[in-house]
Amino acid sequence: MAQRVTLAVNGRAREEAIEDNLLLIDYLRERRGLTGTKRGCDGGECGACTVLIDGEPRLSCLTLAAACEGRAVETIESQSRNGTLSALQRAFHEKLGTQCGFCTPGMIMAASALLRRNPHPSEADIREALGGNLCRCTGYVKIIEAVREAAR
Ligand code: FES
Ligand code: FES
Repeated sequence: MAQRVTLAVNGRAREEAIEDNLLLIDYLRERRGLTGTKRGCDGGECGACTVLIDGEPRLSCLTLAAACEGRAVETIESQSRNGTLSALQRAFHEKLGTQCGFCTPGMIMAASALLRRNPHPSEADIREALGGNLCRCTGYVKIIEAVREAAR
């Protein structure tokens, strides 16, 4: 069944018919064309699909799109402004926190939520905040350095 739902993504609200079982990740990628959000494990294990909902990191592969009505959804596409990278994006680039890049959108969104509530996180804070985000390439050290650099 579908119902008419208004969803606000990256500050842009749109009303449309949304099937009750449509996942947020599919809504973002297929209806909104926001393909920065990645599908990794598709089962709540890897964090690649992390977006912010009302400022909190959430797994879009486990979230129903219709449940996001009235809430603010933010994706990786909200990070850059007019072609200028955010501090986190720049730091991931400069500190080599990105290799294949598949985990990077989820990492940056989780880190973004952390820096909003704690602008000066310790290494332990960063490790805890990114604990649900897996990376097969970097060994995590460069990712943590990148978040620390962005905080500076
Ligand atoms: S794709 Fe959502 S947690 Fe892995
Ligand atoms: S950079 Fe490849 S999975 Fe993290």
